[in-house]
Amino acid sequence: GYGWADVAALEQSMAGRAVRVRGAAHAVRAVGRRVAFVVLRQGTSTVQCVVAAAAGGGDAGMVRLAAGLSRESVVDVAGVVSLPREPVHGTTQQQVEIQVKKLHCISRATPNLPISVGRRSAKRGRRRQSQSCKLFPAVNLLHHGQAGEQVVHVGQDKRLDYRVIDLRTPANQAIFRVQCEVENIFRQVLLSEGFVGIHTPKLIGGSSEGGAAVFKLDYNGQPGCLAQSPQLHKQMAVCGGFERVFEVGPVFRAEDSNTHRHLCEFVGLDMEMVIRDHYFEVCDVVDRLFVAMFDHLNKNCTKELETIDRQYPFKPLKYLPKTLRIEYDEGIGMLKEAGVHVEAMGDLNTEAEKKLGELVHAKYGTDLYMLCRYPSAVRPFYTMPCPDDPRYSNSFDVFVRGEEIISGAQRVHIPELLARQAEARGIAVGSIAAYIDSFRYGAPPHGGFGVGLERVVMLFCGLGNIRKASLFPRDPRRLQP
Ligand code: 4AD
Repeated sequence: GYGWADVAALEQSMAGRAVRVRGAAHAVRAVGRRVAFVVLRQGTSTVQCVVAAAAGGGDAGMVRLAAGLSRESVVDVAGVVSLPREPVHGTTQQQVEIQVKKLHCISRATPNLPISVGRRSAKRGRRRQSQSCKLFPAVNLLHHGQAGEQVVHVGQDKRLDYRVIDLRTPANQAIFRVQCEVENIFRQVLLSEGFVGIHTPKLIGGSSEGGAAVFKLDYNGQPGCLAQSPQLHKQMAVCGGFERVFEVGPVFRAEDSNTHRHLCEFVGLDMEMVIRDHYFEVCDVVDRLFVAMFDHLNKNCTKELETIDRQYPFKPLKYLPKTLRIEYDEGIGMLKEAGVHVEAMGDLNTEAEKKLGELVHAKYGTDLYMLCRYPSAVRPFYTMPCPDDPRYSNSFDVFVRGEEIISGAQRVHIPELLARQAEARGIAVGSIAAYIDSFRYGAPPHGGFGVGLERVVMLFCGLGNIRKASLFPRDPRRLQP
């Protein structure tokens, strides 16, 4: 009988073996009425299946069926593994093919797919990476120049509208494997350092970060909102006796930011820990975590990173074994020296951050660095002021290629100060009374940070748009699919 086989596992030593394979019809080509070639795809692996009327067992009806398969239809073939006379260009399984004896279409794809997986633009000379270019570079060699092939350039919006098809491309398959690894390493490193994973509520009574970027909702007649971060409850977990906690969970931001790096829902990688002497203890965890993470990706995800690079070329990330830390004032000094206008004690805008990234890269040779000691005025209400100068705070941001991936700080664990800072920022203290009260029952000094998962993937892989690192992105205009 024919035993199920995975396309990725096929190899030359299996020649002569009868196998069954289920996959998507990635490309179909008929040669007259007696032979058809169907490239079957499973994940990112492809193999050529030869359907021939003459070659023992096949019949003309089967060739007709194969030739008429619409792209992306799910197909079962049963056949014999064979060694092609020359490597099958355009498949990942170049050294083997399958001589088909039986063929069934399991699920027929609509013949007019709104976007393609396998088709490639003929405009190869174009500099700008169009979404439809290079999607499946190898396979398209099969079809290149074939009569009737239409050149279609499809923008990112349309590809996102049909994300289930879009996700089938090798680059997208690779991006979400990398994302999974980032999340995994986050957990592994923190678990190894004695952190415990927690889940905080996403339906809350008062906003976690303040500001207007809150999705408000009616909670059984009571005003409520979606958590902008686990901030309040991860701190309350520390008040609850957990010395080190982390969380991986959704974060909601109602900001109307139509940029390449803002989503309305993203995945937050958060941690919070007690500190003994200095908030640098939190920075030390960032150091170990991200160096371990990037080392791991470079070492264990080479295939994925190459695949992503083929579709969206990027430079490997440069980072130091111990992450560079510079103070906000030094950063401002570097910018001023370079002739960039920055407001005194103000927040850095996107361009200034980008520019500072370039300056730091030139001076210190790293794409990853920490900016510490921000002015208190530009940080959230729960941030601890510097003991030596309260105009500054015990806080930091981490940047990759000049864009923020992390923000963190020591928190205020003194209830009176916390209430004062909240009030000063116009936050309705009543809506977060239970949070502020948490610090009245004995609360240790503590700090932590929050990372945007999609930002890490976008910036590590140089994707240029955060939507590419979100399975089904939610931005100010998109609630579908
Ligand atoms: O800088 P943010 O808003 O900080 C907090 O939420 C704090 N509670 C963290 C802490 O523990 N002190 O968000 C943290 C990270 C940012 O550095 C960024 O990577 C990401 O979350 N982020 C976003 N990612 C995608 N879309 C958005 N709209 C984002 N806003 C923040």
